[in-house]
Order: sequence, then structure tokens, then C-alpha cells
Amino acid sequence: MSHAAAPVPMTARRTGPLHGEAPVPGDKSVSHRALILGALAVGETRITGLLEGQDVLDTARAMQAFGAEVERVGTGEWVVHGVGVGGFGEPAGVIDCGNSGTGVRLIMGAMATTPITATFTGDASLSRRPMGRITDPLALFGATIATRQGGLLPVTITGAADPVPVRYRTPVASAQIKSAVLLAGLNAPGETVVIEAEPTRDHTERMLAGFGAAIRTEVTPEGRVITLTGRPELRPQVVAVPRDPSSAAFPVAAALIVPGSQVTVPGVSRNPTRDGLYVTLAEMGANLTWDNDREEGGEPVADLTVRHGSLRGVTVPADRAASMIDEFPILSVIAAFADGPTVMNGVAELRVKESDRIDAMAVGLRANGVAVDETRDSMTVHGRTAVPGGATVQTHLDHRIAMSFLVLGLASDAPVTVDDAGPIATSFPDFLPLMQRLGGDLG
Ligand code: S3P
Repeated sequence: MSHAAAPVPMTARRTGPLHGEAPVPGDKSVSHRALILGALAVGETRITGLLEGQDVLDTARAMQAFGAEVERVGTGEWVVHGVGVGGFGEPAGVIDCGNSGTGVRLIMGAMATTPITATFTGDASLSRRPMGRITDPLALFGATIATRQGGLLPVTITGAADPVPVRYRTPVASAQIKSAVLLAGLNAPGETVVIEAEPTRDHTERMLAGFGAAIRTEVTPEGRVITLTGRPELRPQVVAVPRDPSSAAFPVAAALIVPGSQVTVPGVSRNPTRDGLYVTLAEMGANLTWDNDREEGGEPVADLTVRHGSLRGVTVPADRAASMIDEFPILSVIAAFADGPTVMNGVAELRVKESDRIDAMAVGLRANGVAVDETRDSMTVHGRTAVPGGATVQTHLDHRIAMSFLVLGLASDAPVTVDDAGPIATSFPDFLPLMQRLGGDLG
């Protein structure tokens, strides 16, 4: 929902050791996809552990607008009665996806091969983000699309009445582009193919297979080649959403930088297309233990325990960026407390997230006494033994910038304030009480 709510400033102060369990919410990427595929299946899909953040609630409302029945039956428990592939009806009003790039991009894909018209909009942050990367491939299916200049929202799409299947090589590493093409391919006859040079998160492929679609991935010299057979009948599923490794990163980071801490995150996703932060933290010398590896909802999960300890700066290779694309803001906070510089390469995509995350982190870290170098597609954070803190940081409607700087404040000498903590509700509504229960001094 786009709401220009009054900003909610929040401050974090230097904290004693953090201890306990951090049951972070359900995975945002998996939650969006469970609602969308549930809406495209015939019959009743049951979802447990759904993230009830604003981004996902906006997707739930959008699925209702396209004709699915979507009902909340308990905490994180949702039931979706789908309309089948090709069964979306024309929404009566504008589809407002709020802050969510994933929501708007996947839903545009899901409706682009059904002959209905829909107009998509979002908040000030989403209205600055590029949509041409989605509308370009959707036009190849035969959809008719109008955007604001520069490929920006609002976007109006009339889905193809006679869609053709598409073979598409993604121009940037993006699971959102891949997923939009695959979801459009569901209602095209024949085989739709996506080729990605770098692997990106594969939740769409896993879940499509779980819902009964014929989909296969081949690893070739040109990258991953994903082939989907169109017009399947998707069978409703029971989906158990694992906990979000991107949300887990915040209490994990806090435990790493606050002396004496030990925190456990139960049942967190260990999907290898999402684990780049954890690989990097291990290289930095972080004390991480994974226990009880198991599978939930088609995704590998485990219990993660993290203990405070000294860290060293590392160089993160460009080919790891996609597997930790949402974790660079919090990695740059952790890096501020490491011994030596941490270099993050191949991160240009950060400039088109909920905010320009390279700029937001560089400005905020410098204001708090940490030296940062940046280029168009890299960022270097110079670690120090003590971080002065003391500044107020602008979060630019970006949940991960807000949470990152609040974590910084838990370990810096002087308090750190963010100008607006409101956007945290898009992905991690219980961030504040969860961090307080661990012992964090913030509010
Ligand atoms: C997401 C993909 C990523 C990520 C976003 C969620 C998804 O975006 O940043 O938070 O659920 O597919 P890109 O695929 O555009 O990099």
C-alpha cells in the first residue's frame, strides 16, 4: 500500500551482550511466490509461516484483485483458492504494490499472458525503480505495455491474447526478471526459456516444480538454462515458508559485533542461491554453527548459532553478489568492525534497490566515523577497532538501510538514529521487539 506515513525516527544505543533465540519471520521471496502460485493453481493452497510484512500483504491484496480468494486463518497461516493458469480476471482498480519490487515485477509477469488490462503503481521508492527490465521481455510474449518515461511506474499492461513462448537471456543477474518471464511463460503454449549467466535465487523454479509444472534447469557454459513447459495445471500445495536468511542477517550481525553475544536463529533457509553472506562471514572468521539441517517447503533449512568474535576484512568476489544481493548493507556494518578493509565487487545492482544502497550506506557510515570508498559497482568499508557513531541517518524508504544502521548503533560508541524506521514493516514487522528481547537497547 502506498502511504506517505509520518516518519518514525528510531535510535539504537550501545548494548550489553545479546542472548537468546531470534525467530525471524518467513522468507519474503518465498512468501510472494506462495501467494502468486497459489492464485494460479486450481483449488486450495495452504501456507504456513507466511511473512506478514506490508510487501507480502500488498501481494495478497493484488491476488484478490485478480480474482483469487485469499484468507488469513491464523498467524502466518493463509489459504488461497486459485483461479488456474490463465484464469486471472481484470482488476477493478489500480494494483498498488507499495514498496515491493518483487511484488510488482512478479505480478506483472503473472498477468502478461492473460487478455486483461491492469495498471500498477507503488510508493515513492518503487516509482523510481526500473521496470523496463520486466516490460521488455513481457512485450516479447505479445503483451501491450505503457510506462511512464524511463520505464517507470505507473505501468499499464494488456496481456497477450495469443501469447507466444519466449527465449530470454537476462541482461542483469536478477531473480525478479527470471521469475517474471517464467510466470508469463506459464500461460504461453510451448517452452519458455530463461538463460542467466550468474545463478540467482531459484525459489520460483523450486516452487513451480512443487506445484507440478514441467521445469528443468541445465548448467551450461553460457550459464543456467531454465526451460518451462507452458499451460500446466498447477496443483495446489501446502507450503511451509522457511525463515528469511536476509532478515536473519540483522540479529546475526548484531551478535557478531556486540561483545559477549550468542544468538540462535532457528529454521533459517540455507538455499545455496541465498547464502553468500554466510560464506563471506565464514571467510571473515565469524563463529557460525549450523545444526539440524533439514528440508521445509522444498527449501533446505537449519538452525544457525552465532557468537561474537574478532573479524577480518575480506574481498567479496563479483560472482558472489547475486547470492547476497540484499545483504550488502548489513555486511558493510559488520565490515566497519572488522580488522582491515572489506571490498565488495560487482554490486552495481544495489543502486536500483529500494534506495541507492551504495550511496545510502556510504553517506551514513561516513557520518558515523567509518571511511568508505565507492565506485559505480564496488564499495570498500575500512574497518576500525571502535566506531564513533553519533549521527542521524536517512533511510530513503529502505527497510534494510534502517535496520542496518540500528544494528550499527548497538555497537558504536555514541547512539545512532535513523530518520524513519517505518519501512522496516515491509519485511520484518517484529524487528524492534525481537531485537529488544535479545537485549538490544533500541526504540
Ligand atoms: C528478489 C530478488 C532480488 C532481491 C529482492 C527479492 C526476489 O532482486 O533484491 O529483494 O524475490 O526475486 P533482483 O532479482 O532484481 O536482484
